[in-house]
Amino acid sequence: MATINVALIGQGFMGRSHSNAWGQVAKFFKPPIKPVMHTVFGQPEENPQAFAANWGWQNAATDWEALVKSPEIGLVDVVTPNYMHAPVAKAAILAGKHVACEKPIAGTLADAREMVEAAKKANVKTFVWFNYRRCPAVALAHQLVKQGKLGEIRHVRATYLQDWADDNVPLLWRFDKTLAGSGAHGDLNAHIVDMTRFVTGMEIVEIAGAIAETFIKKRKLPTGVSAGGIASGRAGADQWGDVTVDDAVLFLARFSNGAVASFEAARQATGNQNRNTFEINGTKGALKFDFERMNELLFYDATLPRAVQGWTNIMVTHGGDHPYVANWWPDAHIIGYEHGFVNQAYDILKVLAGEEPTVPLPDFEDAYNTQRVLEAALISAAERRPVNLDDVK
Ligand SMILES: NC(=O)c1ccc[n+]([C@@H]2O[C@H](COP(=O)([O-])OP(=O)(O)OC[C@H]3O[C@@H](n4cnc5c(N)ncnc54)[C@H](O)[C@@H]3O)[C@@H](O)[C@H]2O)c1
Repeated sequence: MATINVALIGQGFMGRSHSNAWGQVAKFFKPPIKPVMHTVFGQPEENPQAFAANWGWQNAATDWEALVKSPEIGLVDVVTPNYMHAPVAKAAILAGKHVACEKPIAGTLADAREMVEAAKKANVKTFVWFNYRRCPAVALAHQLVKQGKLGEIRHVRATYLQDWADDNVPLLWRFDKTLAGSGAHGDLNAHIVDMTRFVTGMEIVEIAGAIAETFIKKRKLPTGVSAGGIASGRAGADQWGDVTVDDAVLFLARFSNGAVASFEAARQATGNQNRNTFEINGTKGALKFDFERMNELLFYDATLPRAVQGWTNIMVTHGGDHPYVANWWPDAHIIGYEHGFVNQAYDILKVLAGEEPTVPLPDFEDAYNTQRVLEAALISAAERRPVNLDDVK
């Protein structure tokens, strides 16, 4: 069987979830190419050897530049903070490697554009880990829209709400614009912009208005390497630094067919831990998804007689009918967060083998279009005006 050697660059939260995905994928699926967990990169203080031994990587490295050039590596998987996506991805592409990169594609639109251009010049394949597309419920929503079950889409409503960022959380890289690009916006709105583009099959053409807010403007510098990864500054006793990103961004938008949309990302939305949701209303029906109940998709069929119309709660766990599920467990033996990443690893391997993915897989160019929407919303918030997407390239 054909194999591909994978190098993983980073070993934080996503380092663990991707290690799990590469380790599981050939056990549950029959990918046309088998991934070999060749080498993981980590910073020396993170003890990459221990990480490699725990997750099943054959080797550990502390020099990512040498690693991405190694002739033994075929696919580079980038799970670093956002500002490092472009340098690592571009170096890997230049060395002729296929690249899978975490979202958002980059911290800035300029970095994202350079990544797209580098990939176009090289004969390599690129992927971005918008993993929520690969929840069976979201993939089913995409299929139902494609089958015309919603008719003409009129409304798109999406929120991604978390509540972890109170004032006890130190100044992690996620609060520093130079390292992250933006805050809740790039972290959370990136997902719901991608997800709604994917489900509706349409592009956002205008941001009508946006607001961004930073509630906590200074945070304590972390001491040592924290569980959340690298810090945005030197560790020190009772030292504080500036937060330079948003805690929340909300915006109104218009899709290409005239549908109107609202998006909201927040890190301090008390009571919501990972509430990643959309509701889409069309002339023939509607869909609702909430990641906190990720095995369910709500469907409203407005073509039924009015007397029996109502929300149907579809348990998206039937192997014969629902995407990806046949490779997991029997009906209603539900799946969780990590399965989306394994499903994506499977589709990446299919595309590398020249096959079609189960549902469309975002490459750098696709993720660049999500990044353009994010950029347009930031411009709209800063300048308090509508922004046409044609003007953001
Ligand atoms: N798809 C998702 O749902 C999802 C969820 C969380 C994070 N992410 C994305 O994954 C990426 C990583 O996030 P995380 O939560 O794993 O972060 P993290 O802080 O937990 O881990 C970051 C890792 O990057 C490495 N790193 C840090 N600075 C580096 C540098 N200068 N050069 C090379 N490597 C460096 C470190 O080794 C660390 O292990 C981000 O782009 C983030 O937006 C995606």
